[in-house]
This record gives sequence, structure tokens and C-alpha cells, in this order.
Amino acid sequence: MSKPVPIHIVRQLDRLASTIAADPSAQSIGPGARLQDRRGRPLRDLRISVTDRCNFRCAYCMPKAAFGKDHRYLPHEALLSFEEITRLARQFVALGVQKIRITGGEPLLRKGIEQLIEQLATLRSPVGDAIDIAMTTNGSLLERKARALKAAGLQRVTVSLDALDDAVFQRMNDVGFPVAKVLSGIEAAQAAGIANIKVNMVVQRGVNEQQIVPMARFFQGTGVTLRFIEYMDVGSTNGWRMDDMVAGEEVERRVASELPLIPLHANAPGETAQRWGYADARGEHDPRLGEIGVISSVTQAFCGDCNRARLSTEGRLYSCLFAGQGHDLRQLLRNPSTVTDETLSGVIAAIWQRRTDRYSEQRSSRSSIHGALPTHRPEMSYIGG
Ligand code: GTP
Ligand code: 5AD
Ligand code: SF4
Ligand code: SF4
Repeated sequence: MSKPVPIHIVRQLDRLASTIAADPSAQSIGPGARLQDRRGRPLRDLRISVTDRCNFRCAYCMPKAAFGKDHRYLPHEALLSFEEITRLARQFVALGVQKIRITGGEPLLRKGIEQLIEQLATLRSPVGDAIDIAMTTNGSLLERKARALKAAGLQRVTVSLDALDDAVFQRMNDVGFPVAKVLSGIEAAQAAGIANIKVNMVVQRGVNEQQIVPMARFFQGTGVTLRFIEYMDVGSTNGWRMDDMVAGEEVERRVASELPLIPLHANAPGETAQRWGYADARGEHDPRLGEIGVISSVTQAFCGDCNRARLSTEGRLYSCLFAGQGHDLRQLLRNPSTVTDETLSGVIAAIWQRRTDRYSEQRSSRSSIHGALPTHRPEMSYIGG
């Protein structure tokens, strides 16, 4: 027999349902209706963090000082189950999501992750299209898992790799993990037939900036797209300072001084990266040489067409990477007496319709970032990159 639902939860649900019903700005979201937030941005991209654990300790994300041996991770029962994730993802897809990215922490640490991918791969958009399923991983377990992931339906993978120089990389991951094993993971993904592999490099002043050009040379012509990412003030443990960031413009200049580049058009609205193609001797893009991406999330904020929602490890919905609070969908999901798919979908739609977030834009329009900061900001490992 299922346990009775505690009265305070029933009250919270009632309050939520009546706020939504009373919201004059709420549009009715039937089939074919367009869901938009207050700034006219659609919901297209869902990032799901499947674990708050990681076997690396990159100082910009999970510094040892904050994530030491005694760090308490979420207990297993706090995590959404694969069935819960899939049920929620189905509602998101019905509301317009076309792309799902599995993140963490390190998503390959979640036991049986292939089964989740299999379940997500069965989802279809309202017009019957398959959903683009991608993963962001540190690559440490990719060599072992690439074939199973591909067989389960994973179409794209992004591997985080911050340097080719072993000493630099091992210092950055802070657990002595070697570059060669990450590269073997990338090769295994290629061999398994996962098309569209990207590498994410977070560039930090005085830490790995000397690796910009070697990384570009190494991945040129391999079919792997290298993306340089500005170091961000995400979370509250990395001690971010503007001086530690290398602007995307500088990265682009440094690469272009050695390897000629020409600008490419965005692949899709709301894309995070500015694309640059490698040029041939005539100054035209040579697709065989490939391209790089520059993600200038600090210096050239891209909130204007941000269509990304994030589902945290324990089922909180965040409408921005920097949102102070998430909306507890797990509480709704685990309430058997009230929750129908329609309720879930109505709640998600109402949250999106009220969305006004544009943190990065606000940060760049202030001389000091402090006024714009929420008091508590979620860690990237919890909310998903
Ligand atoms: P594609 O699906 O291939 O287009 O990848 P993506 O660029 O959407 O995703 P990815 O997870 O590879 O993003 C790369 C990095 O960009 C992240 O790790 C973040 O550092 C940054 N980033 C992604 N989305 C956002 C966002 O919504 N806001 C900000 N400020 N940064 C973001
Ligand atoms: N700044 C920018 N990107 C970050 N990531 C994690 N922390 C940060 C940060 N402070 C991103 C990196 C990595 C992914 C898992 O999360 O892109 O590849
Ligand atoms: Fe782990 Fe990725 Fe964060 Fe590094 S950036 S600590 S690999 S989740
Ligand atoms: Fe989107 Fe927030 Fe990032 Fe802006 S700061 S792009 S609104 S997630």
C-alpha cells in the first residue's frame, strides 16, 4: 500500500495549482500552441544532471576545498529514477524540447545510464520527430562505455578536456588523470560511430592559456570540434575572479594568428558557440579541416535567445544556470494522489511562461557583478552544465 501523502505537501501542491490557475499571463498550452517565456524565448533544450558525483576535481567546478573526502553527496533515494526522468522529459518534449543533454557531475558514473538513454530515445516530438540526445562527459569512462552508449541511442557526445600537456591537465583535474585515457575515450566514441563529437576546454588565465593553440592544432582535421569556453562565475565555490578568465575574442585571435579562421553561421537559434571554420589557402572554409567554437558566456552573453532548461539531480527545475532557486518537480512526481501528466506539464509550462532570467546579460551591464548575484547559486555539478 502506498504511504499517505503528508498534509504539508498536499497544501503546497494545492497552492502551486491555484497560483498557476490564477496566473493571467498563463497561455493555454494545447497541441500546436507555442510556449514562450516572458522574453519570447521558446523552450528547446533540456539538460538533465543524473548525478552530483564526479571522479575529477577541476578547481573551476568541484574544487577539493569544497568537495573533499567528507563531502556528502545526495543519497540514492534523492536522485530521480530513470522512470521519473523519462516521465518528466516526455512532458518537456510535448512542450517543445528538441534536444536533451545528459550531464552531471560525471554522468557515466550513474549506474545503468545506458538504460536511461534507451528510454529517452523512444520519445518523439509532437510532430513525430526523434529527439537529439547528447551527453557531456569528462571522458574517463568513455573508452569502456562508448559502444553501449551508441547502441542505446546516444547521438552526440561532448568531452571536457582542458589541456594536451599531461602536467597541466593532471593539475587541472586534480586527481592525476592522464590525457591519453581521455583521448582513448574520444577515439572509442568515434569508432563506435557517435557522430558530432565536441571537446570543451575551459580557458583559465595562467593555468592553461598556453594550451589554446596546441589544442587547436591537435583537433584540426580530426572531425572533432574544439570549443573554447570562458571561465564563468557559476556556483559559489570556485572563487571566480574576472582576471582569471580569458575572453573568447582573445582566444579567437590567438588561434587565428597561427591557423587562419573565417566566421561561420550559427547552426541553430540559441547556439552557445560562435563558430569559426579553418580556412584553406584561398581563404575559404575547408570542411575537411573542420571548425572551432568560442563560447563567450561572460563577455558576450547569449541570454537573448536562451532556450535552455535544467533539471537538477534531485529533480529541481532551473530556468537559468544562475537561478537562485529551482522548482521542486520531484515533490510533485512522488505525490501519487495528485499528479497526472497534465499537472506536470501545466506546472512546467507555467514556470517557463514566467521566466525572465538573463543573468549573464545583467552581469555584463553592471560595472560590479555583485548587485546581480542571487544569494545562493547552484553548483554546475548539481544543476548540469
Ligand atoms: P550543443 O548541444 O552541441 O550546441 O552544445 P551546447 O553548447 O548547447 O552545450 P554544452 O553543454 O557543450 O555547453 C558548453 C558550455 O557552454 C557549458 O559547459 C557552459 O560552460 C556554457 N553554457 C552552456 N549553456 C549555457 C547557458 O545557458 N548559459 C551560460 N552562461 N553558459 C552556458
Ligand atoms: N566555467 C565555464 N564552464 C564550466 N564548466 C564547469 N564549470 C565551469 C565554469 N566555472 C563546464 C565545462 C565542462 C562542463 C562539464 O561544465 O564546459 O566541460
Ligand atoms: Fe567533473 Fe566536469 Fe566538473 Fe571537472 S568540470 S569536476 S570533470 S563535472
Ligand atoms: Fe540562459 Fe541564464 Fe545562461 Fe543567460 S545566464 S544564457 S539566461 S542560462
